[in-house]
Amino acid sequence: MSKQSGKVAIVTGANNGIGFETTVGMAEAGFHVVMACRSLEKAAAAKASVLARIPSASLEILVLDLSDLTSVRGFAQAFRARYSTLDVLINNAGILLYSAQTNADGVELQFATNHLGHFLLTALLIDMFPDDSASRIVSLSSIAHKNANTHFDDLTCGQDGGVAYGQSKLACLLFGDELDRQLTASGKSLKSLTVHPGGSDSGLFNDLDEATRANMKEQVEQLLHSNEDAAKPSLFAALSDQVKGGEYYGPTGPEEMSGKTWVATRNPICDDHGLAKRLWRLSEEMTDQTFAI
Ligand SMILES: NC(=O)c1ccc[n+]([C@@H]2O[C@H](COP(=O)([O-])OP(=O)(O)OC[C@H]3O[C@@H](n4cnc5c(N)ncnc54)[C@H](OP(=O)(O)O)[C@@H]3O)[C@@H](O)[C@H]2O)c1
Repeated sequence: MSKQSGKVAIVTGANNGIGFETTVGMAEAGFHVVMACRSLEKAAAAKASVLARIPSASLEILVLDLSDLTSVRGFAQAFRARYSTLDVLINNAGILLYSAQTNADGVELQFATNHLGHFLLTALLIDMFPDDSASRIVSLSSIAHKNANTHFDDLTCGQDGGVAYGQSKLACLLFGDELDRQLTASGKSLKSLTVHPGGSDSGLFNDLDEATRANMKEQVEQLLHSNEDAAKPSLFAALSDQVKGGEYYGPTGPEEMSGKTWVATRNPICDDHGLAKRLWRLSEEMTDQTFAI
């Protein structure tokens, strides 16, 4: 990992779990980190905790609710008013729901938060990256994408929250891959990379009912690693000079749940570039935003 200074990074969902540890890592690497969080109160507490670990950390909190396109536009406007460049964007925030929920626009909440919000955020900030191979967009997927498919005619996936989570994380991966193909085709040095963190006991499972959580814990507890280790693929993708644009990184240990970071296993559906383009067009329509590269 190379040491940076005077560079700006955004981490979405910086106040908890993997995003918190990613913020610590980016601050430690010398970045000024914008903590993009939906709760100012939680973000302020997280900022104090980062500073307790890294007293030299340079941090700013800006409000961002990814499930609300107006909030995403407000965040981008506030960011542009304060900064002239962006070096690293880490699309980390996410939710896992086993119940069917929608946002104020009636869009399935996990697709809206995990994918659409990040799609719009990236589209609104893409022109701020220096044309440099150290410029990075990192999008978090999940092992859960491996058994997933897209259900564009019914984003609620038959009101099944678990299936919709997989779909949203597949969308994060398809988006990150397509973004890198388009950047490469335009001759840009900016890289889009995708990662998954393996498994860690973060706040992600708090919305599940107790029985589902206990059952899940029983199945995977031995395989989990810490949130600090789960942040390593994101930090590797953001900071290492060994990465390749368009690559998907994650832990390489048992069942890819923990261990050293390297190239991770994708769902073969990711080879369907036509599907990624369909998702791109759908996302442009749903956000009412042309994504120009
Ligand atoms: N932990 C795992 O085992 C695991 C496995 C695979 C993939 N992942 C992925 O890793 C990423 C980080 O999750 P985590 O495990 O660290 O979970 P976490 O502890 O629950 O953290 C998620 C973060 O996202 C934020 N967030 C949720 N909805 C948001 C919204 N509408 N707008 C802005 N921020 C929002 C949360 O804010 P609040 O605190 O306000 O809720 C929190 O800061 C997610 O993309 C998740 O899908 C995690």
